[in-house]
Amino acid sequence: MPTASLWERTLTFFPQFMRALKENCEPGATVTVIGASDGKFVLPLAEAGYDVIALERDPIALNGGEVLLPVSGIAYAPGLVERLDAANLHNQVRIVCSDFLEVAPSFISADAVWTSCSWHYSANHRRPLSEFVKRMQQLVRPGGVFGAEFMMPVEPQHRSIEHYTAPDRLTRYFDTPWNVLLTLQTNTFTERAHVGQPHDHTHRMGLLIANRQPGPDERRTEPR
Ligand SMILES: C[S@@+](CC[C@H](N)C(=O)[O-])C[C@H]1O[C@@H](n2cnc3c(N)ncnc32)[C@H](O)[C@@H]1O
Repeated sequence: MPTASLWERTLTFFPQFMRALKENCEPGATVTVIGASDGKFVLPLAEAGYDVIALERDPIALNGGEVLLPVSGIAYAPGLVERLDAANLHNQVRIVCSDFLEVAPSFISADAVWTSCSWHYSANHRRPLSEFVKRMQQLVRPGGVFGAEFMMPVEPQHRSIEHYTAPDRLTRYFDTPWNVLLTLQTNTFTERAHVGQPHDHTHRMGLLIANRQPGPDERRTEPR
């Protein structure tokens, strides 16, 4: 990629999501990224030939601007728009600048949805976790894929916030027509300081990937 994402060095289960995407969706399928930021995942998805809907509520992450970085202090960071232009991928990405819960699901529905560490943000705590998960599920067309990596509780105060969750707690939302394909979780690990986190810090992360059963019209029928 011609420019690096501010989130480039953070740990991710994105390769597992890409594998599920390839196995369950057609090449060129549409993928919605919730909390797209400056495009750590949007760019590789577009580069792999997917049509991407990038939803993000932070205008600086989208349009660029000054951010506070751990070593260099205040610095200019290019946003998603500039990074897509530099990579010549802008034609494959539709950007939506909004809070996720304020957008009509039909406007951002897709064959697959991916979110990375978005719903634990404190601004989201006023709405229950179930609203985020169910709304993201609603976006996925029958036969499609849902993938979420998320923060698990580490600090004592996380225990009372349901948005710091765990794979076994999330699976309760994935009854029929959903089929859980993969859950994973890390042990606690130290992550280096990054934008928004001036010091090295401890995380624990989980992953859930599921696919939505195809509707009756989409099921493959065997020839008689
Ligand atoms: C941890 S960052 C994303 C980092 C990730 N590794 C990446 O580049 O995609 C999570 C992003 O989710 C966004 N976000 C959190 N809650 C949101 C919401 N309700 N609607 C839209 N964006 C949201 C934040 O603004 C932030 O940019």
